[in-house]
Amino acid sequence: YGDSNQKIDYVFKVVLIGDSAVGKSQILARFARNEFSLDSKATIGVEFQTRTLVIEHKSVKAQIWDTAGQERYRAVTSAYYRGAVGAMLVYDITKRQTFDHIPRWLEELRNHADKNIVIILIGNKTDLENQRAVPTEDAKEFAQKEGLFFLETSALEATNVETAFLTVLTEIF
Ligand code: GTP
Ligand code: MG
Repeated sequence: YGDSNQKIDYVFKVVLIGDSAVGKSQILARFARNEFSLDSKATIGVEFQTRTLVIEHKSVKAQIWDTAGQERYRAVTSAYYRGAVGAMLVYDITKRQTFDHIPRWLEELRNHADKNIVIILIGNKTDLENQRAVPTEDAKEFAQKEGLFFLETSALEATNVETAFLTVLTEIF
């Protein structure tokens, strides 16, 4: 964690998108600082954090951009996607609506981002398994049909967060 002083071989921009409150900012907090907060405030505008890691003996600076799920708080869309080589499309496994909106987010991504962008679909909050509203199989099938990577995560329990970022970063590589 934290950026070292070693030389950087690559800088990869990755964007987080998805409905409000699905956990985008907490997934980022977990990845960048190994932190988690239950009283996370809705994001306003755009924020980003970086973490440098070594992949295949190269030092890669991951620059992760996070924006508001709420339309009224969102920043200029084209600027957000510019230069992004990876995208994480997040829904909440306990809120069916957040999964039903994924095709819209995917459309926005395909309209604004580079066509070679690496995309992973993420079902977050697996710690709330007893409130699950989206079967894993539904998401897996959708991801397969659309050619996306897919993982379920818990930012709270730190499950699969590292793996999700590594999946995208390694594929970009
Ligand atoms: P916007 O900024 O409005 O787009 O929302 P967001 O997607 O960034 O959501 P945020 O990360 O702020 O999280 C929303 C709420 O969900 C907060 O109360 C978080 O603590 C909670 N949350 C995030 N990830 C998890 C998780 O893995 N498990 C549980 N139980 N709660 C989570
Ligand atoms: Mg946020």
